[in-house]
Amino acid sequence: MVSVLFVCLGNICRSPTAEGVFRAVCEQHGLSGKIRIDSAGTAAWHVGKAPDGRAIAAAKRRGIDLTALRARQVVTSDFSDFDFILAMDQANMNDLERSQPEGCRCQLRKILTYTHTKIAQDVPDPYYGGDQGFEEVLDLLFDAARGLMAEVKTHV
Ligand code: 4NP
Repeated sequence: MVSVLFVCLGNICRSPTAEGVFRAVCEQHGLSGKIRIDSAGTAAWHVGKAPDGRAIAAAKRRGIDLTALRARQVVTSDFSDFDFILAMDQANMNDLERSQPEGCRCQLRKILTYTHTKIAQDVPDPYYGGDQGFEEVLDLLFDAARGLMAEVKTHV
């Protein structure tokens, strides 16, 4: 089974949103049972918590339910358990590269390398901003999810 892990800092805003968006896109492609999807944070501050209420509300407006998700921190075994590890921004990427064990064969990339629009390289952290930031996160992640699906489909 192909496996995809989305990673941000806290695992309560961007990466759970990415998880929900990609689950929805997988469902649209009839691939729900064929792709393992998860998310995690590089930091441990919010472990065990549900996604931020603003992330839940923004996703809900687009028909995506994030309420069952709970935050966890990236662990070393993720590097061998997942085929794709997708960082939301350069800081997440740097942290992942530092903790990546030698010889890891996963594809470690920034998620926005899969976008069509290429208007941004990093998914901006919406935590300290307003609701509009969460809409922007969703726009970027829907764009990237389509490109990612095209790539992942070739491995299913
Ligand atoms: P995320 O957003 O990395 O997209 O989940 C953040 C969540 C929490 C914090 C920072 C970013 N924080 O500082 O607690």
